[in-house]
Amino acid sequence: MMEGQSVLDLIRRRTSVRTYDPRPVEPEKLDKLKAFMSAVENPFGAAVRLELVEGASGRLGTYGFIRGAKTFFGGCVKKSGMDLEGFGYAFEQVVLYATALGLGTCWLGGTFKRSAFAERLRPVDEYLPAVSPVGYASDKKSLTEKVVAAGAGARMRKRFGEVFFDGAPDKPLVPDNGALTTCLEMVRIGPSASNKQPWRVIVKDGAIHFYALIDRRYAGNTMYGFTMQRIDMGIAACHFELSARELGLPGGFVVDDPHLISDEQAAEGWRYCFSWR
Ligand SMILES: Cc1cc2nc3c(=O)[nH]c(=O)nc-3n(C[C@H](O)[C@H](O)[C@H](O)COP(=O)(O)O)c2cc1C
Repeated sequence: MMEGQSVLDLIRRRTSVRTYDPRPVEPEKLDKLKAFMSAVENPFGAAVRLELVEGASGRLGTYGFIRGAKTFFGGCVKKSGMDLEGFGYAFEQVVLYATALGLGTCWLGGTFKRSAFAERLRPVDEYLPAVSPVGYASDKKSLTEKVVAAGAGARMRKRFGEVFFDGAPDKPLVPDNGALTTCLEMVRIGPSASNKQPWRVIVKDGAIHFYALIDRRYAGNTMYGFTMQRIDMGIAACHFELSARELGLPGGFVVDDPHLISDEQAAEGWRYCFSWR
């Protein structure tokens, strides 16, 4: 629960907002966001620092992708083995918390001026993977927003059996009415860079093994000095764990590769990330 609201509902309600209403966010809500950000945790031991950044989208620089925003939040992380997964996990919790406060957000990993945000966030032994505007969604969508959303097929998601597997990566998992299906469904509908949905899951012997299908030709993975799609895996972990806690599905994340994929799949870009058990 966040602000008395079900996380499942928040995950279902969240969508990227790229056009903002002139109405500023009330100081009380900004204070709540700040308090939430300073306390947010992640299960991957990543040293994540998240902060509000006051400033208009035009001046800070979002290449026309974001209109009308007056406030952003951004984050830095120290380099470590699972830094980007931890960053994705922590940042997505803030996204969901903002959703609970009635505010729109939009993950930006590429279309923002890194130098302008770095001046504000001042990374020290850290780097800056992503930022997001935060504010009230406008009733009107800009043309850029419509084009971007249509281009990324923003509402489209891969089918359940295309990304979740039963025992081996060639056997689609069949959804049922249980808590595990709901938790996986919350992973399935999550946001991802360019909506590429890299998450793959193999359920075996009561454990849930998460893999990333990394697209090595995707510019997001090559342009910024880090693998953008690892952030998506942190988002997947966040949606899974918060849903599991809400539904009473026991377990926690561990890193313990069960070696279930073939050399061929590894060559395709499949990469083991973490397991829930
Ligand atoms: C790690 C990450 C980076 C993203 N970077 C950008 C970006 O640079 N610019 C942008 O307009 N949207 C960006 N997005 C938003 C995605 O395009 C969006 O989440 C996806 O198309 C699904 O749409 P939805 O969020 O409305 O469900 C990013 C999302 C994620 C998770």
